[in-house]
Amino acid sequence: MKSLKIILSIVLVVVFAAGILAACGGGGGTAPAGSGAAPTGSGAAPAGGKTLSMATNAAFPPYEFMEGGEYAGIDIEIAQAIADSMGAELVINDVEFGSIIGGVQSGKYDMGIAGMTVTDERLQSVNFSETYATGVQVIIVKEDSEIASVDDIADKMIGVQMDTTGDIYCCDDFGDDHVTEFKTGADAVQALITGKVDCVVIDNEPAKSFVASNDGLKILDTEYVVEDYAICVSKDNEELLNEINAAIADLKSTGKLDEIISKYIK
Ligand code: ARG
Repeated sequence: MKSLKIILSIVLVVVFAAGILAACGGGGGTAPAGSGAAPTGSGAAPAGGKTLSMATNAAFPPYEFMEGGEYAGIDIEIAQAIADSMGAELVINDVEFGSIIGGVQSGKYDMGIAGMTVTDERLQSVNFSETYATGVQVIIVKEDSEIASVDDIADKMIGVQMDTTGDIYCCDDFGDDHVTEFKTGADAVQALITGKVDCVVIDNEPAKSFVASNDGLKILDTEYVVEDYAICVSKDNEELLNEINAAIADLKSTGKLDEIISKYIK
């Protein structure tokens, strides 16, 4: 008798518990599933989370370029490290080089990272971070070119990427008539190959990359202009400038910056 009672109560408890579970499971199965999705999915930056938008011109290897449909390069990795340090999601905007400064100035983009040279003229429009690399304007010619130094390009046709320092300096030094502007450095190099221009003035690292990927070109052993690369930020965003500078200082002191650079420049 006693054992029957025990069995009965166990059955009752089980049935009762099953009922509660069913009730909870029914209600809980639908409602929390929706709200539960948010916390689980938050590993991938939640909508409305902090973002850091950059403007670049991704046709400037090894600083920024496309590789298998993805952004790659020194600047992209530096920007990612800065975003990480701020706990923000990096948003990359690939735009024409000449529209970066205006876009940063107007607040369309938080920062411009594009192998961008610090110049007095640009400093009138935007602030620049601490510098993170050095650039040298060099001259690319065909292997059999008679051009041997800067002095030889004065009466020639020079190809440049529009709105870059190469463009600005060549127009100043040799006159607009001697300069042909192209949308990208790669376009200028194509024009050199097809004989539409006699040389291309561009930053040394992209120059090396273009010469390596095209036959019959060489870089002259002259440094036309030596410059500093930095990140531009709106003059109204002192706070971001400080955060970027802190991140750059950190990248430098930890050796991470050298690590990124040596991954792309051998
Ligand atoms: N250093 C040069 C400048 O600041 C060229 C930079 C071009 N950068 C680019 N991503 N296309 O004018």
